[in-house]
Amino acid sequence: MISSQIQLASYLFASILFILSLGGLSSQESAKRGVLFGIAGMIIAIISTVLGEGVSGHVYIIIAVAIASVIGILVARKVEMTSMPQLVAILHSFVGLAAVLVGYGSFLDPHTQALTGVEHNIHVGEIFIGVFIGAITFTGSIVAWGKLDGKIRSKPLLYPGRHVINLLLVIACVVLGVLFAKAPGMEGMIYLYIMTAISLFIGVMLVMAIGGADMPVVVSMLNSYSGWAAAAAGFMLGNDLLIVTGALVGSSGAILSIIMCEAMNRSFWSVIFGGFGDAPSGPAKEINGEVTAMNHEEVAGLVEEAEKIVIVPGYGMAVAKAQFPVFELVEQLKKAGKEVQFGIHPVAGRLPGHMNVLLAEANVPYDIVLEMEEINDDLKETDLVLVIGANDIVNPGAIDDPNSPIYGMPVIEVWDAKNVIVMKRSMATGYAGVQNPLFFKPNTNMLYGDAKDSVSKINGFLKS
Ligand code: TAP
Repeated sequence: MISSQIQLASYLFASILFILSLGGLSSQESAKRGVLFGIAGMIIAIISTVLGEGVSGHVYIIIAVAIASVIGILVARKVEMTSMPQLVAILHSFVGLAAVLVGYGSFLDPHTQALTGVEHNIHVGEIFIGVFIGAITFTGSIVAWGKLDGKIRSKPLLYPGRHVINLLLVIACVVLGVLFAKAPGMEGMIYLYIMTAISLFIGVMLVMAIGGADMPVVVSMLNSYSGWAAAAAGFMLGNDLLIVTGALVGSSGAILSIIMCEAMNRSFWSVIFGGFGDAPSGPAKEINGEVTAMNHEEVAGLVEEAEKIVIVPGYGMAVAKAQFPVFELVEQLKKAGKEVQFGIHPVAGRLPGHMNVLLAEANVPYDIVLEMEEINDDLKETDLVLVIGANDIVNPGAIDDPNSPIYGMPVIEVWDAKNVIVMKRSMATGYAGVQNPLFFKPNTNMLYGDAKDSVSKINGFLKS
């Protein structure tokens, strides 16, 4: 058992570690340190909470934590980098569910029933808001998981008047909240049940209305919601650390959502209210030109001739685990005196920073890895762009086809370079499900096949 002062001091220490953790995660060099700060903060938080005053049933808590830790370690070891967004989404759903359960538990607690006046109103208000946000986060995250995992179709589910219906449902929840606060004793339970059902439905509809191309923003937005749900649980439990941690997650998730919205040229508010991935009404712009392909030897020849080369990786590089032969290629090209850079789109892959993590894993130096805005200006002076398993992020339709579902999203304008090689297995579309006019441009050639295999073969030709 520890005293409440020691507990408060440990909470403060844990909060500082969480802030340092977020700070560390902002750059690749300090990311590992950031994660370690986060782990240390969480261990301190759990121990000081469990050993705090008024906590009983330690044996059960230890057994539950042990089982959950084993499951967590097994899942984290097994998960592929490409499935990370799904894992993040499903973990958010747990936070939402936890907030709902804490809300119900808190309402059933005899202490709550003993409260009167303003205290009572504030506490039931916390419960109601916590359950509301928690339930939306719970089902919204499950739908996001389904969409990212391909279990639910990624096309937006749109129906007329959905914004009005969503608004009416929220108003109904507000009315239920007032009735809940006014109901004596346990009579409020019925309003809590109805509101929970409505919120679960809102969570499903909000995320179902969002199209595949906009899912990255939704994942970070649900991250933010899960933070606010945790903060609400902190208020219900009177736990300061949970309030601080929830607010950190809530606000950092919201900031990340805003940054990603800017990267994709989307309105933040339409994400918050769902359904901004509206399907365009007109037909897609007609694509002229022919698709031409090269073999590995021909591509190796182009690489040898080029002086300035830019590599644009995408989701396919992650699937193929091609980052290691890509690093080998970069080393060879640098030895041959060529200028090589990477162009990273903010939503390349399936989660923010996906490409940076893969390239860091393969030891690619940070200084040649540039952001989209930095690389776009250089592309006109570039001899060759190697697009490795990327598709949507290099789609010119985002700039010149108002009917494209990704219209308005900034893209890496690879077609400005002298030559472009696109390495992918087929003519299949990318995540957004739209055809890519880049493949039909006269300065673009396809190199069909698995990205790892293709890059390894090019390496082989360059060596010989
Ligand atoms: P995508 O547009 O999904 O294109 C990836 C391409 O890689 C596919 O067209 C696929 O074509 C190819 N590919 C798959 N496996 C391959 C392999 N083994 N070898 C070679 N190629 C392979 O990816 P992107 O360009 O990175 O764009 C990201 C998309 O995902 C955007 O639409 C974005 O909005 C969305 N998204 C992003 C995030 C975040 S935060 N980054 C999260 C969720 C969704 P083939 O099948 O023909 O090989």
